[in-house]
Amino acid sequence: MNTKLTSLLCCPVDRSVLRLESLNDRTLGNGEKVIIDGWLLCEACHQKFPIIDEIAFIAEIELLDRIEPVRRFWTERGAIPQRVQSTSQSGNALLREVQTFWSDRPTAGKWDTDEEQMEGLERWRRESHPWLESFAGYERHSAQLMLEVGCGQGLCTYRFAENGANVVALDLSFDSIVLAQKRLRRKGLSDKVDLVLGNAQSLPFLDDRFDFVYSFGVIHHSPDTAACVREIARVVKSGSFVLVMYYYTWSLTKLIEASARLANRVLTWVTGDEQAFLKLARRMLGGYADKHTAQFLKTGKAATLHAPVIHTYSRRQTLAMFTAAGFTNIQFALTHLSEEVAFVLSKLRMSSLIPILARRVGWDLITTATKRG
Ligand SMILES: C[S@@+](CC[C@H](N)C(=O)[O-])C[C@H]1O[C@@H](n2cnc3c(N)ncnc32)[C@H](O)[C@@H]1O
Ligand SMILES: [Zn+2]
Repeated sequence: MNTKLTSLLCCPVDRSVLRLESLNDRTLGNGEKVIIDGWLLCEACHQKFPIIDEIAFIAEIELLDRIEPVRRFWTERGAIPQRVQSTSQSGNALLREVQTFWSDRPTAGKWDTDEEQMEGLERWRRESHPWLESFAGYERHSAQLMLEVGCGQGLCTYRFAENGANVVALDLSFDSIVLAQKRLRRKGLSDKVDLVLGNAQSLPFLDDRFDFVYSFGVIHHSPDTAACVREIARVVKSGSFVLVMYYYTWSLTKLIEASARLANRVLTWVTGDEQAFLKLARRMLGGYADKHTAQFLKTGKAATLHAPVIHTYSRRQTLAMFTAAGFTNIQFALTHLSEEVAFVLSKLRMSSLIPILARRVGWDLITTATKRG
């Protein structure tokens, strides 16, 4: 963690400023210092947030206390914290579940996480989200101080960093952050990015600090999405721009989910065979049905992602949520069909419809907005 970051940070519980204590640091070519190991101390609640191997861990204690390196760090230095009152106590049991899910499966199970696979994952992202390059506008944020909320393994983070942005990248999942760090180190970009393990519902940053906030596929997986939007509004500078992607309610994925649920009920009722829908799906989709339709019948969800929290929002709900948080100039774009839907369409020889449907009933709703001055 670059010492410069300290002027942006605050305690996620009481928003007091944090005092930096270095145990071990290194100096960059330009004279700036990077803390390798150290503490960030809250003078109000006396919480000691650790910095370990350059990653700052600044979240409510119940989101840190199961992370092995954090426990070891606290234990070795006799600094095991008293439990502190959290600002978002009610959501934290579910948040811990969310954290575990994404730490166990940092790529949502879509890819192995060995280092050799890192480039494969980048290729997968480029191929499955070809539109992302133009939407994210990686090259438009050069020299800006930006925050990425929910960086995951750093698939977008490194693109912003290599295009000249100064990035603070935050995620709740320790395994994801470590993979992001590996990716950035491999690419020689780690000095351009500060990594923070933190919670989007109570960001550890002072008000009005960032030139740009970006969040791709994250806050709909957090129990309180509206709190994340409010936090994003709080930390971005007035007049500055944010880009947030989450799932869209009136999407083909949700429509197929509802239709499949209905078809399953009707077929079971008509035939008396609980497997009738699966058998029909097998006939239409082959082996894919065993992988996904069987799962769907168990969970009732059409998308293969089985994260503990998957909220979806309409444009109207988004407008209300972003307006209430203090944004103006709120604009939308729809894109992307979930993998399952794209697969079914290609099986039905309707692949040419994919881009058209994505624009109208896509799964990804991209919202851009400006913080009111
Ligand atoms: C689908 S992944 C997206 C990761 C990355 N943005 C990308 O495009 O590859 C969702 C990420 O959201 C993170 N996440 C979910 N809830 C969060 C929260 N409350 N605070 C911070 N990160 C959160 C998860 O840990 C996970 O890494
Ligand atoms: Zn505090």
